[in-house]
Amino acid sequence: MRIPLLAANWKMNMTRREARVMVEDLLARVGDLRDREAAICPPFHLLSEVGSLLAARPSIRLGGQDLYWKDSGAFTGEVSAPMLRDVGCHFVIVGHSERRALFGETDSSCAQKVTAAQNHGLVPILCVGETLEEREAGRTQERVVSQFRGALQGLALDSGERLVVAYEPIWAIGTGKTDSPEEANRTMSLLRATLAELFGERIAAQVRLLYGGSVKPENIDAFMACREIDGALVGGASLKAESFARIIQFQ
Ligand code: 13P
Repeated sequence: MRIPLLAANWKMNMTRREARVMVEDLLARVGDLRDREAAICPPFHLLSEVGSLLAARPSIRLGGQDLYWKDSGAFTGEVSAPMLRDVGCHFVIVGHSERRALFGETDSSCAQKVTAAQNHGLVPILCVGETLEEREAGRTQERVVSQFRGALQGLALDSGERLVVAYEPIWAIGTGKTDSPEEANRTMSLLRATLAELFGERIAAQVRLLYGGSVKPENIDAFMACREIDGALVGGASLKAESFARIIQFQ
């Protein structure tokens, strides 16, 4: 019942020209998607351009990489949920570990962003994940559940389709190391159990859980074979049409 979602997080990469070349190449490689969805989250300056290129392919959606929770006003450098909607976004990433580590994002700012996104009809892709130290200290589960509870605090969710969660172990991001599919699946089943506690079984069963961290054409099939893994959030391997196309076409 959960439609697989393969989402590209381009981070701070790509010029307009590079983006156009990549998306045109990607569209030529993947036909109409029937049993899966894809998304591209480019940096803000490319949303309009990439959105126009994707307009003819509704199964590949547009997403922002962050937002601010106010609608408008004197917040230099920020972008709001109504602005992301205006440019055609369906998704928005919230609480990526790079934003938490480098730009002071906290669980409580994530909670405000998740609520703002949902109030304006955007689907947040909420990111959680543990550091290497936390993993080695056996604190993975405690850490991700606490990030999760913090960011979902006070949220009223009437449908699980309005939330996506990405579990991204920080030590696996951009390093070429991945969690084992079995271990990732175990952590994600705990996230689903926490969703059930917070919102009930029906809604928990609808929320898509993505794995992120060095996802590549060579490992996507093994992750997608796991019961609790409904998709992937892909960084480096989403910048090339050939590799992202293969990821979308997982078997
Ligand atoms: P990599 O796929 O480059 O490891 O990045 C993962 C990520 O951070 C996606 O949000």
